[in-house]
Amino acid sequence: MTSASGVLSVGELARRIPVGRERFLLGIAGPPGAGKSTLAQRLRDELGVVAVVAPMDGYHLRNEVLRARGAVARKGEPDTFDAAGFVADLRLLRDTPLGVPVPWPLFDRAIDEPTPAGTIIRDERVVLVEGNYLLLTDAEAPGWAPVRGLLDECWYLDAPRPVLTERLLDRHTAGGRTPDEAHLKVTDSDLRNADLIATSRHRADHILSADGSGYRVR
Ligand SMILES: Nc1ncnc2c1ncn2[C@@H]1O[C@H](COP(=O)(O)OP(=O)(O)OP(=O)(O)O)[C@@H](O)[C@H]1O
Ligand SMILES: [Mg+2]
Repeated sequence: MTSASGVLSVGELARRIPVGRERFLLGIAGPPGAGKSTLAQRLRDELGVVAVVAPMDGYHLRNEVLRARGAVARKGEPDTFDAAGFVADLRLLRDTPLGVPVPWPLFDRAIDEPTPAGTIIRDERVVLVEGNYLLLTDAEAPGWAPVRGLLDECWYLDAPRPVLTERLLDRHTAGGRTPDEAHLKVTDSDLRNADLIATSRHRADHILSADGSGYRVR
């Protein structure tokens, strides 16, 4: 994937995704705050109705479950998601013919809980699967390893650590945390997750980073 400048517009990126007779599952992995959801939505906007975004974060365990496990403070770490459910639904999506509905959960940041069957995937030939832990193996965290094999291709969206830090601090303060609480969440949790995710970067087919209104691709 190259261009003269090494920077592709979202339209150019979208044209590199095959829209064929078979469903194509494109993963977009990367650390928290890298812009995965934004990129997935931009690609969806370019591709139109042939594409749908299928986020991984609908597989967050419910807060009630996290409380029972004493894991509320660790929300966002690999074992605070239903990795098995995510893998099963990816497999179902692969095995289900176009035209047959597959419910997919979403995550509602306003209530901080997943919404079961938040979207229905049916006729879309391109599924943009975006989330943090798409490229992990068992060496990093158990349960996630089958994901990569269920994706046709997987990109990794990277961003410099100061950019991640600033975006995550903004998000947490906008979500109601004090500056101190936001700082603790970023240093104690988000950036530790980002370090773990970075160890999986080399398994991506392409590594992207935002550059102006486009993306630099390696
Ligand atoms: N290319 C970009 N240029 C500037 N800002 C961006 C870009 N992409 C995303 N952002 C901003 O960065 C913030 C994080 O983006 P986004 O929510 O898409 O990240 P994410 O990778 O999905 O995060 P998470 O893993 O936590 O879901 C948002 O405020 C978004 O507007
Ligand atoms: Mg996101």
